Amino acid sequence: MSTEEDSMTDVIGAGKVAVVTGAASGIGRALAEAFSAAGSAVVVADLDGAEAEIVAASIRERGGDATAIQVDVSDATAVEALAQATIERYGHVDVLCNNAGVSTFNLMRDQTLDDWRWVFNVNLWGVVNGLQSFVPIMRAQGTRGHIVNTASIAGILSGIAFIGPYSATKVAVVSISETLAQELQIDGTQIGVSVLCPSSVDTKVMESERGRPAELGAEHRTEMAESVRLMIRDSFTGPTGKTPATVAEMVLDAIRANRFWIITHPDENGASAARFSNLLASFPTV
Ligand SMILES: NC(=O)c1ccc[n+]([C@@H]2O[C@H](COP(=O)([O-])OP(=O)(O)OC[C@H]3O[C@@H](n4cnc5c(N)ncnc54)[C@H](O)[C@@H]3O)[C@@H](O)[C@H]2O)c1
Repeated sequence: MSTEEDSMTDVIGAGKVAVVTGAASGIGRALAEAFSAAGSAVVVADLDGAEAEIVAASIRERGGDATAIQVDVSDATAVEALAQATIERYGHVDVLCNNAGVSTFNLMRDQTLDDWRWVFNVNLWGVVNGLQSFVPIMRAQGTRGHIVNTASIAGILSGIAFIGPYSATKVAVVSISETLAQELQIDGTQIGVSVLCPSSVDTKVMESERGRPAELGAEHRTEMAESVRLMIRDSFTGPTGKTPATVAEMVLDAIRANRFWIITHPDENGASAARFSNLLASFPTV
């Protein structure tokens, strides 16, 4: 393929549009900045509209094209409005990153139904709402596109103490992504799918409660859970932690290569291998 044809089929670059949810902070912010640095226009979508505007303004100051949109991804009507606003502003969308996510931190026996509801509303329904509103638009365009759903290494390891609801949603995000990839292929569309499974990344995910709706009440972590949470949070900036910018570059590389799995850290390789070999060993041989 010639360079000219390459650029016509790229989903990142000048004339292309990327929508990123949870883009006011952490991995989402780094994604928005990386898409912009690569020439795409970006929609910086987040529950925190003021922070989203700060991110968009800083991208514009560097010469990029960025639009901030306040959205609660757990609200289907608001996500539909995000899709419509994107089309009104840019006319098309080439990359969608369903990235917004939150977590509680407690043993499951100490998590309330409202803890479960909040985490499922954002992490699971946020992704479903994003797909529901954007996939029809992207299919109708008939052009190449790409969808990245942010899961977690928890989506592969599956059972992780203290983050039961979170892990359950991230397993679901992996599953939804695998199904979506199959169905878009059956469809014959040119829309690729990737699932991002990070381990420790230096973000504010451990302070998720800042975006928890007031009507769900405050989270009540036990003392033990709180001390484990602080230990894990500190590991995000330690030798095993990665920066959001490093993760964002991995995502852009995976989109360009149309690679499904984006695993950011080598650390959990052993635990993943143990889980899968245990599972395989449990299949009957006859
Ligand atoms: N940081 C890590 O180590 C790590 C590891 C695995 C997976 N992840 C995943 O990465 C994604 C990004 O998180 P992060 O680590 O950058 O955390 P972060 O807290 O720094 O950023 C999350 C962003 O999502 C936004 N958000 C929260 N609820 C929202 C809602 N209802 N609607 C719209 N936006 C909302 C927040 O305002 C925030 O800007 C999440 O899905 C998270 O589960 C992070």
